[in-house]
Amino acid sequence: MKKRVLTGDRPTGPLHLGHYIGTLKARLDLQDEAEVFVLIADYHTLTRGVDTKNLRNNVRELVLDYLSVGLDLKKVTVYRQSDVPQVTELALLFGMLITVPRLSRVPTLKEVMRDEKIKTPSFGLLGYPVLQAADIALVKGEVVPVGRDQASHLEVTRELIRRFNSEFGEVFPEPEALIKGEVLPGTDGKAKMSKSLDNAIMLSDGGEAVEKKVMGMYTDPKRVHATDPGHVERNPVFIYLDAFAKDTGKVKDLKSRYEKGTISDVEVKRYLVEVLNEFLDPIRSRREELEKSVDIGKILEDGRRKVAPIADETLSKVKEAMKLV
Ligand code: TRP
Repeated sequence: MKKRVLTGDRPTGPLHLGHYIGTLKARLDLQDEAEVFVLIADYHTLTRGVDTKNLRNNVRELVLDYLSVGLDLKKVTVYRQSDVPQVTELALLFGMLITVPRLSRVPTLKEVMRDEKIKTPSFGLLGYPVLQAADIALVKGEVVPVGRDQASHLEVTRELIRRFNSEFGEVFPEPEALIKGEVLPGTDGKAKMSKSLDNAIMLSDGGEAVEKKVMGMYTDPKRVHATDPGHVERNPVFIYLDAFAKDTGKVKDLKSRYEKGTISDVEVKRYLVEVLNEFLDPIRSRREELEKSVDIGKILEDGRRKVAPIADETLSKVKEAMKLV
């Protein structure tokens, strides 16, 4: 039996290279060997404020990103969270199995509150990991490929499922997080690439945008002249080369020249522009084709149709186990 995989993203805008390295790549590998569900977590976007004016377009962009990097709808099921509202019922029931202090300790909550300047979390924001647990449990996900920042949410999921199973009988498999990808730093050298930090290279960026962003990248702050020996470690230009360049011999050579001070930052950056554009070109051309032909409504409806019966079955098992029916 193929393992069932569930993962997803909040539709907050176009995806970037950090998403590719962090999770998209793992999904591409998994789609051939597992039964993969990819969730567009629109309810989750509402936890940080209810400005929904771009929501529909963001959902569309996300589907385009998925398809242009090579997710294959014959192999994976892409669906929108709010199209399968059974998840809210499961989240409500899971909410009875976890305390407020436990949720208050989830580290991502503090980060979001700090970054978004939220003084008091809404009930929805506090419950974010509970809804995520319901996403996973609803389809009985066994493997959940996510970025490193999601580890604490997966811990909540596992706790909730253990609690449910021990209280009411084994209804759910205990899912494991699959944390494979690295966290790609931003073009400014900050720890994480993120659209809101304005340090991201988007999968949908054109050649010129990529060039501009790369040529302005943070490198080794201690290196003033091209003849100064430079640092390769923690230098985002080399981290990107390691992640995307096919010619590892060439990267090795560039690194050693950089360390010796026989190559300029500009030369290395020029090569990175080439590498990234080579990586992004097929993604761009697929996207261009899709822009013309894709029927997002149909894709979402197909997804909904596949997931709805699974959701109904899970919920009836849950209600039976809880003696609600
Ligand atoms: N919280 C995830 C993120 O921000 C998105 C998400 C929502 C998710 N539900 C999920 C990921 C279920 C994996 C499984 O990246």
